[in-house]
Parts: sequence; C-alpha cells; structure tokens
Amino acid sequence: MSEQHETLKDFLGKHPTVKYLFTGGKGGVGKTISAAGLAYYFASEGEKVLLASLNPVHSLSSLFGQDLTGGAIKPINGINNLYAIEVDIRERVKKYKEQLSEKLMWFMKWADIPLKAEEFVDIAATNPAFEESAMFDNTIDIMLKESENFDKIVFDTAAVANAVRLLGLSKIYGLWLGRMIESRKEALSLRVKLSFRKERVMEEVKKDPMMKDLLDMNERIKKAREVFSDPEKTAFFFVTLPLALPIAVVERFIKMVQGFDIPTGGVIVNGVLEKKLVSEGKATEYLINKFKEQQRYMEIIKERLWPSVRAIIPLYPTEIIGLDMVGKVAQDMLNWKPEA
Ligand SMILES: Nc1ncnc2c1ncn2[C@@H]1O[C@H](COP(=O)(O)OP(=O)(O)OP(=O)(O)O)[C@@H](O)[C@H]1O
Ligand SMILES: [Mg+2]
Repeated sequence: MSEQHETLKDFLGKHPTVKYLFTGGKGGVGKTISAAGLAYYFASEGEKVLLASLNPVHSLSSLFGQDLTGGAIKPINGINNLYAIEVDIRERVKKYKEQLSEKLMWFMKWADIPLKAEEFVDIAATNPAFEESAMFDNTIDIMLKESENFDKIVFDTAAVANAVRLLGLSKIYGLWLGRMIESRKEALSLRVKLSFRKERVMEEVKKDPMMKDLLDMNERIKKAREVFSDPEKTAFFFVTLPLALPIAVVERFIKMVQGFDIPTGGVIVNGVLEKKLVSEGKATEYLINKFKEQQRYMEIIKERLWPSVRAIIPLYPTEIIGLDMVGKVAQDMLNWKPEA
C-alpha cells in the first residue's frame, strides 16, 4: 500500500536477467494461467520465451487450443516469440526407473545387499517423490538444453504436493550421487589393484561407463543448483487463491524455499472478486457472501504475505481459454498496483 510496494512489473524490471521462472502452489490455484501470463508478457516484450509444462495433464494444450503434446517444442499460434512444450512425465518415469534400476543393481551387488534391485525400484517408484525426481530431472534437462535458445523459460510446475521439493531434491540428489561416485571409485580401484598397476586406476575410472554416467549426472545437478540458487537467474512465484488452504500452502512453501536458498519472486493472488461486482447493487446474496469471505482472506494475506504480493488476478466470468484471455491475464498481472 505504500509507494515502495514491489509489484510484478517492478520485480521484473529490477531483475532483467532472471531467466527461469517457476509457478508453484496448491492444485487448481492458477499455476498454469500465471505461468502462461508471464510467458505471454515476455513474448509481447519481444523476448523469446519457452513455456514448459511437466504436468501429466495436458494443461497447455487445452489452454491454447493447440496440440502441444509429444515432448517437442512448438510455436504458439497467433503470437510471436512464444513457444511451448508439454512433457509427458510418465515416459520419463519409465526411463528413469530403468536407469535407476541399473545403478541400484550395481550398487547393491557391490555393497552385498541381497535384494533384487527391480523389486526395490518398483517399491521406490510408487512413492510420489519418485515422480518428482523424474520431473526434476526433466526440468534440469530443459534448463540446460534450451537455455541458449531462449531468453526466458517459464515452468508451469505440476500440482504435486510440494513443487518446491523438486528444488530441495537437488541437494539430496547431490549427496546421494557423491556417495555413489565414491563407492564406484573404490570398487574400481580394488579391481584395478588386482590386475593393473596403480597409475592405471584413473584411466580405468574414466573408461567406466557407469562412472561417466554418475559424473555427468553430478555435473548436471551442480550446474542446476548454481542456477536455482542465483536470484539473478531464477525466480519462484507462489500462486494462491483467497482461501485458507492455498494460503497455508504458500506460507509453507516460502519457508521451505528459504531453507533451500532458492530465490522467491513473490506471491500472486488469483481469482479475486472485484469490488465493483458487489457495489453496483445487482449482486446476488451468494456473490455478496463470497465477496465478504474473500475479503476476510485478503485481510489474512495482508497480515502474513503482503510485502511479497506482486500481483492480484481478478476472477473472470469464464475459465481462461485461448490466447486473448491469456493476454488479458498478462495485462492484469503486469498492471496490478496496490490501492492507494
Ligand atoms: N482468475 C480466474 N478466473 C477464471 N477462471 C480461472 C481463473 N484462474 C484460473 N481459472 C480457471 O481455473 C482452472 C484452474 O486454473 P489453472 O489450470 O491455471 O490452475 P493450476 O494451478 O495450474 O491447476 P493444476 O493444479 O490442476 O495444474 C482453469 O480451468 C482456469 O481456466
Ligand atoms: Mg496446471
């Protein structure tokens, strides 16, 4: 409410180098439309933008009325500079399972653990965190592969319980990989000791395909962590509705993100009824009650999150479909200012 309140436009203006943007929040709060709004805005400013969805639901295809499935980058019809990709995470989970099972099999054999790796991987794969790690892997892929080709990459993060865990995972992943690499080195050097001279250890290590794989993966994670924790490259936006549960989720997310040193872009409040709807005297009782309820939650948002709120998106009379409506969302997001 003060003049210093940092709006979305202010934030983006102050951080022109931010390249990777994420939208997170509870299911159905408006992550996809916010990501699309951001992407639309950048594209209309002449920046080349990739909007990436790692959602199992084809949300971008239905939003733009265009088939964006298949995992290839496609231009969005009717606008310059805007491209989108929808990755089917199920394919990735399958691949990921195969890769992991290979590594685990080796590791368990080496550590002399008498279990079948396949069974172990199957059990692990039923954990939602497994899907999240596959998604995380995919996110890194897109970040590293496409960063040269685009000015901005906006990730529409899927409605998994904790989108932020994706990022936190990189830390755990890194630790796990470190262990694997050390164990592999040890195993190799033992083998080498038996049959070759010591000088050949490193040579052997470099030739080892599993080692190469592990080192590559480690390198990727390291790079991704560097990018994720750089506030001049990455911004994570939290989307909420003026309702109790999504607000609580956002509060929790913000704390988690801070714990992982991931830079926050701020909060986007979506689906807010405009005052004029009820002040014109034609509103139904239902609408008036809904408005009052929202106002109560807006008070809570003001108490707990206000300095981080970057934009408020109004509740539109229809769902958001098509490029024109995405343009409207972009405009409303970017023009938002707190009331004087
Ligand atoms: N401000 C709004 N006004 C009207 N309809 C909206 C608004 N925001 C979102 N919607 C509609 O609500 C639905 C959910 O929005 P969206 O898909 O962006 O949410 P999400 O957080 O991405 O959901 P999911 O968790 O399922 O991925 C969509 O049908 C969208 O068109
Ligand atoms: Mg979505």
